[in-house]
Amino acid sequence: MRAAPTMWRWPAAAAAAWLLLAVLLSAVAATGAEYVKYKDPTQPIGERVDDLLSRMTLAEKIGQMSQIERANASSSVIQKYFVGSVLSGGGSVPSEKATAAQWQQVVTKMQKAALKTRLGIPILYGIDAVHGNNNVYNATIFPHNVGLGATRDPKLVKRIGHATALESRATGIPYAFAPCVAVCRDPRWGRCYESYSEETKLVQLMASAIVPGLQGDPPANHPKGTPFVAGPMNVAGCAKHYVGDGGTRRGINENNTVLSFHDLMRIHMPPYDDAVIKGVASVMISYSSWNGVKMHENRFLVTDMLKNKMHFRGFVITDWQAVDRITTPPHQHYYHSIQETIHAGIDMVMIPYDYPEFVADLTSQVSKGTIRMDRINDAVSRILRVKFAMGLFENPFPDHRLTGELGHKEHREIAREAVRKSLVLLKNGKGGQKPVLPLSKKASKILVAGSHAHNLGFQCGGWTKSWQGQGGNNITAGTTILEAIKSAVGNTTVIDHAEHPDKSSIAKDASEYEYAVVVVGEPPYAETAGDNQNLTIPSPGPEVIKDVCGLVKCVVVLVSGRPLVVEPYIGSMDALVAAWLPGTEGHGVADVLFGDYGFTGKLPRTWFKAVDQLPMNYGDKRYDPLFPFGFGLTTKPTSQS
Ligand SMILES: *[C@@H]1O[C@H](CO)[C@@H](O)[C@H](O)[C@H]1NC(C)=O
Ligand SMILES: *[C@@H]1O[C@H](CO)[C@@H](O)[C@H](O)[C@H]1NC(C)=O
Ligand SMILES: *[C@@H]1O[C@H](CO)[C@@H](O)[C@H](O)[C@H]1NC(C)=O
Ligand SMILES: *[C@@H]1O[C@H](CO)[C@@H](O)[C@H](O)[C@H]1NC(C)=O
Ligand SMILES: *[C@@H]1O[C@H](CO)[C@@H](O)[C@H](O)[C@H]1NC(C)=O
Ligand SMILES: *[C@@H]1O[C@H](CO)[C@@H](O)[C@H](O)[C@H]1NC(C)=O
Repeated sequence: MRAAPTMWRWPAAAAAAWLLLAVLLSAVAATGAEYVKYKDPTQPIGERVDDLLSRMTLAEKIGQMSQIERANASSSVIQKYFVGSVLSGGGSVPSEKATAAQWQQVVTKMQKAALKTRLGIPILYGIDAVHGNNNVYNATIFPHNVGLGATRDPKLVKRIGHATALESRATGIPYAFAPCVAVCRDPRWGRCYESYSEETKLVQLMASAIVPGLQGDPPANHPKGTPFVAGPMNVAGCAKHYVGDGGTRRGINENNTVLSFHDLMRIHMPPYDDAVIKGVASVMISYSSWNGVKMHENRFLVTDMLKNKMHFRGFVITDWQAVDRITTPPHQHYYHSIQETIHAGIDMVMIPYDYPEFVADLTSQVSKGTIRMDRINDAVSRILRVKFAMGLFENPFPDHRLTGELGHKEHREIAREAVRKSLVLLKNGKGGQKPVLPLSKKASKILVAGSHAHNLGFQCGGWTKSWQGQGGNNITAGTTILEAIKSAVGNTTVIDHAEHPDKSSIAKDASEYEYAVVVVGEPPYAETAGDNQNLTIPSPGPEVIKDVCGLVKCVVVLVSGRPLVVEPYIGSMDALVAAWLPGTEGHGVADVLFGDYGFTGKLPRTWFKAVDQLPMNYGDKRYDPLFPFGFGLTTKPTSQS
């Protein structure tokens, strides 16, 4: 990890600053000006929370519990509703190519409005920074979590967390809705790539690394469950989606997870315990249900388990518009849903648009006594505890010195390393024949084909620039796999490139091509739009594989969020590489294809033969995979100049 510039050495500088402040404050006290305890950073956080809470009106408390969308967060709305938190939903940006400095101006303006309110409580701005600060133009895009699971490298994942924190802070944003610690048990789920693995232990390993990567390392004696954010170069994190999001029937997004309590605890709960031990600041609730009860109204799992039994003392947040989804039309009862949600133990509501109705309904319920004030006080205390713990009152504004962290070269190097380590080699040479990989850099002529060879948007996947992601090479800064191949091979190599070359043109040059690299896979998707019951390679991927591999020695690189059905074609391939969703640093793929580095990645998921086997996970009694969990061939680095 790159050492932070000295001027930012936070703990020492902060200690000195606090001492100075303490001296000043006692001087102020001596001259008779009002001493405000919650503003005094030398006071214990618990006392600051209690002091501030005791000064707050109901409207101010409900404001803290409200998270609204950036598009709605004008200065007057922030002040009128005492808004506590603002978010950028997927793809919600001030302008498509907004710079880090422009993002900082947006956050600064909101913060100024919040600080002008009676009590001056800073807002907390949150964003889905789930594989880097991925909404933002020019940010480093890291591989999605499934690829990180394949690396088996928690130290690397921790460095990615820290780089993501810096790139978020570069845009003035101190709160990331990450990590997703889902244990995806069925790859038909559209969010499966957000999960590190189907194996609970591997998810735990990564949860224990990414949380301190984002938030900083809590000290050894840190009390379990107390939120910890080291300072203004870290961000508050959010473990999500609590709990059982990856266990729904047939992998249907937001659906029902049918499991015994014992199995829920065994398979899906452990990563939350790791995140809570590391001081995760917040936990986001899953849209899904457990045995028919929506998680957003499950008081037993939210309050009794998470808050009481696991000692989580940060705040619990809803998913986007989740209150609206507890009941469905035509039986929609928003008023009732608010009551259920708050009663279950949820502290902050990601409303995000219809804040007037939310505020009016919640206010009315507290006034009528259907929601108790002590529940409101618990919610607000938790939100304030996080804000104090992360130093937001002392450092409410973006730090302009951090703008250069966005897309920083060193972060791109970390991403490139992650890509190299995430690639899983599934086949290398047809039965009994010589391995094909690594490829020669000195071939005279090669073919590069497939829809994903030269498409930056496709290799980044969903949650990149927009919620669903999008194709194209101008979506952000980065290197496609084709560009990386071009820069890896010698300058005497002729590269023919076509997404879908026609068979006769391949046949014409087949004897001249030393080899072909075929890059195919899934188009970008997120959440429900990515649910898929067939998991086939989308057309024309299979045709391109058949046409090219029938005529030329071929390496197939699959760019996908999950294993896909490859059995019908694998016999024709000379080599097969699972590249997952690698992100902007395509060079990482070429580094390994051409042997500058060896293949080391191991499957984080079971590679099934056919979808009718699903769900099928490592450890199941009936386990008949094409490639088992943990599989991955290796190669040694070669030196070719
Ligand atoms: C994006 O990064 C490139 C360099 O990679 C730089 O030239 C360009 O100005 C950046 N654009 C924005 C909007 O920050
Ligand atoms: C699960 O999906 C089915 C089919 O789409 C739907 O009818 C049902 O309401 C869903 N269940 C839940 C709990 O969301
Ligand atoms: C919040 O913003 C959205 C999107 O711009 C808009 O549709 C909605 O009307 C706004 N909500 C309010 C209460 O103004
Ligand atoms: C990319 O190019 C398309 C088509 O020319 C254009 O509509 C889009 O705005 C461009 N996007 C960026 C980020 O430049
Ligand atoms: C090809 O690369 C060699 C060695 O790096 C260099 O000397 C030569 O000038 C290059 N030729 C062309 C045509 O770029
Ligand atoms: C597989 O499912 C996806 C998602 O529902 C759909 O778009 C696609 O057309 C299906 N493919 C086949 C071959 O049925």
